[in-house]
Amino acid sequence: MEAIPIYRPWLGQEELEALSRPLQSGWLTQGPEVAAFEQEFAEYVGAERAVAVSSGTAALHLGLLACGVGPGDEVITVSHSFVATVNAVVQTGATPVLVDVEADTFNMDVDLVEQAITERTRALLVVHQLGMPCDLGRLCRLAREKGLLLIEDAACAVGSEIKWDGRWERIGKPHGELACFSFHPRKLLTAAEGGMVVSHSADRLARVERLRNHGRDPEDSRRVLEPGFNYRMSDLHAAVGRVQLGRLSELLVRRRCQVERYRDLLESIPGLEFQKQAAWARSNWQTLALRLSPGADPSVVRSRLQEAGVCVQKGVACSHRQPVREAPWRQAGSLEVGERAEDRSLVIPLFHDMSEADQRRVALALAEALND
Ligand SMILES: Cc1ncc(COP(=O)(O)O)c(C=O)c1O
Repeated sequence: MEAIPIYRPWLGQEELEALSRPLQSGWLTQGPEVAAFEQEFAEYVGAERAVAVSSGTAALHLGLLACGVGPGDEVITVSHSFVATVNAVVQTGATPVLVDVEADTFNMDVDLVEQAITERTRALLVVHQLGMPCDLGRLCRLAREKGLLLIEDAACAVGSEIKWDGRWERIGKPHGELACFSFHPRKLLTAAEGGMVVSHSADRLARVERLRNHGRDPEDSRRVLEPGFNYRMSDLHAAVGRVQLGRLSELLVRRRCQVERYRDLLESIPGLEFQKQAAWARSNWQTLALRLSPGADPSVVRSRLQEAGVCVQKGVACSHRQPVREAPWRQAGSLEVGERAEDRSLVIPLFHDMSEADQRRVALALAEALND
């Protein structure tokens, strides 16, 4: 029997046709497809404007720079995230200050943020981990009270929603100063590679626009206004991204049904917990990570699932555990909840055309793997 993969992106004939537009016109680098993608993406998330870049990491790097983050500053963030979160801060010359996450949501523990603030703190870089919205209401309030900027690492959160003043709003409106998305193939909307920055601030977006293109003046590309990068998105990537954006609503409906089915199928298996979704949050369920109860040995469970033809992965890796020689971050207290989340969670298969039969196979394999 064929193994069930963890994930595969939803790609089809429409992407092939979209790719032929820039290929036939000969306009390959940033051009009309990028401009259209930016506009359509901004409309989707409810932002005034969006600026496309070459990756989610580039979005974070430029977003932080556009917020004025630089050497001597501290940025409070989480270790329990893809390493790009911390790397982007390091690349600005600032110091990431790492706080722990909550055991049930895998998101920043808001109670720990206040004590991590120093006179050097400039921003909070909060992550919507695996697509689950973090507590933006409390975090934005805290940032405002302390005079800090709040930047969202929304790499995983396209299509996720949060209840804001009694209404559901999409992540990326944005609710803080600026939000950054990724279009890596593991995300619900992929452009192969790519990222997007959204902000209410026209000045910050203008800086992102300048920095993504060598610091050149967008009105006169022969004038360089400051040293920048080549973080442009190509029209080939944007053409694919536009098709994917059009498919996102249907993908989200399917995804939420599949998660409900998993809840039913896994309900009777003791020792498995879903990532907690608060009443004010709606995840896009980009990645389904289950927490194992203390009784189960995660490596045994993983190998039994692999033997049964079910691909699985460990949870999100903590950045502070990476073998970096001179750690460029500061730990604000214990990070053991994140470590436990890394060690004791299990990412299981979930993708757009995963059948009910495959979900049943995964559930059965899990029941057997956990049965001693
Ligand atoms: C939380 C988080 N932040 C940042 C990134 C970086 O995005 P990219 O791979 O597009 O650079 C990713 C994913 O890959 C991510 O999961």
